[in-house]
Amino acid sequence: MTMHHANDFAALDVAVAPPVQSRMRHFPRLTPDEAARVIQHGDMVAFSGFTPAGAAKAVPRAIAKFARAEHEANRDFQIRALTGASTGASLDDTLAEADAISWRAPYQSSGPLRKQVNSGAVQFVDMHLSHVPQMVLFGFLGKVDVAVVEASEVTRDGRVYLTTSIGASPTFLQAAEKVIIELNEHQSVRLSDMADIVTPKPPPYRPGLDLHHPLERIGKSYVLIDPKKIVGIVETDEADELGSMSPADDISEAIAGHVVEFIQRELASGRLPTDFLPLQSGVGNIANSVMQGIGSNPEIPDFLMYSEVLQSAPFELLLSGRLQGASTTALTLLPEQMEMLLENVDELSSRLVLRPQEISNNPAVVRQLGVIAMNTALEVDLYGHVNSTHVSGRRMMNGIGGSGDFARNAYLSIFVCPSAVKGGRISTITPMCSHVDHNEHSVNVIVTEQGYADLRGLAPAQRAQRIIEHCAHPAYKDYLHRYYRNAGGGHIRHNLSRCFELHENLERYGWMLPELAGDDETGQ
Ligand code: COA
Repeated sequence: MTMHHANDFAALDVAVAPPVQSRMRHFPRLTPDEAARVIQHGDMVAFSGFTPAGAAKAVPRAIAKFARAEHEANRDFQIRALTGASTGASLDDTLAEADAISWRAPYQSSGPLRKQVNSGAVQFVDMHLSHVPQMVLFGFLGKVDVAVVEASEVTRDGRVYLTTSIGASPTFLQAAEKVIIELNEHQSVRLSDMADIVTPKPPPYRPGLDLHHPLERIGKSYVLIDPKKIVGIVETDEADELGSMSPADDISEAIAGHVVEFIQRELASGRLPTDFLPLQSGVGNIANSVMQGIGSNPEIPDFLMYSEVLQSAPFELLLSGRLQGASTTALTLLPEQMEMLLENVDELSSRLVLRPQEISNNPAVVRQLGVIAMNTALEVDLYGHVNSTHVSGRRMMNGIGGSGDFARNAYLSIFVCPSAVKGGRISTITPMCSHVDHNEHSVNVIVTEQGYADLRGLAPAQRAQRIIEHCAHPAYKDYLHRYYRNAGGGHIRHNLSRCFELHENLERYGWMLPELAGDDETGQ
């Protein structure tokens, strides 16, 4: 694949800001506690953050503290919280632990918040992440009272330089009535060298995005807002609160191996161009391992990414040169990797583009560039429907995130997962998905550690056979074959009284197939 550096697109780089010389001091300085008092009970607060990268930190902690004090005084205090995606512990964990959230969108991955979502204490709206900015601008989610946004710099004329994520912050800054900036000394101003911020006009006058290469730049390195909206600046000095990634295990390595095998077959057959296509990789441990696997296979050409997050494994590939460059909305890197990035920022900033989430995940661009999408499923059914969000159709895990933005529009849409989880108690291949995030029409290939099922061109009956044979755990194959054989007629065969038998068993006995309990062979 021809490698383009950002400079190749200098003509298109319409408005890169001049470097800012010094920190401007034209706005009131607030302590976090003073900033928290700007926020009223019932306010919609839009926070920066896409993963822990660039998430607001000090102000949400102060809001939680204030909420606790109000609750102790028997007064109501809860906010409606909007972000780009998941956040760091200071935001979702801390606010949830203080019972300070009544409503939350569009994605989360916090233990305490997940509990509240699943108990019904927090109303959670699970959304495609590319939709968030436009839904905010159209007013679909109500008025944004306050935006709390982390920045590395803010100028007197209202230029806000974002940090390790862009997410939906440009829109939050535009839409909010009041803005509080967390000016984080820890975050380098050089991060804005990678920022490429453009906010599409609303329809019907929305022009197509002139984006023909993952590294092409079409916007500015800052967000311009009315400075009068900035009610104050909270100075901080804190790193992003990133957790560590689990090392690859045998299962995720086997999954990665099958993804690589599939891609090699596609290259050899000419169904993928020899100079390859940009990759998108989902969130989490398995996605990280898959990227590691792709990077370490010399038969796969060097590649580019057009993706939502840049996790630790692709960053290593960026350093080694296997990954030529990436478009993303968040740098979800380990602290030592962030240091490495800043040490080499002159070279690396031309190979990384940080975009707003409606551009990083833009369905039209994904289709145009021919992205190969690789996302993780919780559950897959015999016909290729995918559940990415709700365990047993009821308990929210994280949310759909950007998986739908990519899967629906990809050149190739791949879903990966282990064939069984929780020591073999749960088969991820089930007769009917207990919740559907991606339907059969958006799913091309399923990969587990058992193998891969290429579903393209297959009718439902063929898909069922292929998924069972190539992807199901051996301990569940007989059950799944039997289910299919006895499922009755129809284009998609189902026995409506038994299609959730495995899920019912799990609830009743703690195993999808109780007869497997105690069978060491199923253990995963
Ligand atoms: N039933 C119950 N639990 C299941 C399950 C199932 N069918 N499948 C997986 N799990 C559990 C795992 O056992 C694990 O539990 P643990 O945390 O107690 O160990 C947990 O789910 C996470 O699974 P893991 O195997 O560690 O995978 P992951 O870190 O790669 O995360 C998803 C997988 C699906 C939760 C995650 O990828 C996600 O939230 N995806 C949706 C959003 C998305 O795709 N975003 C990318 C867009 S760019």
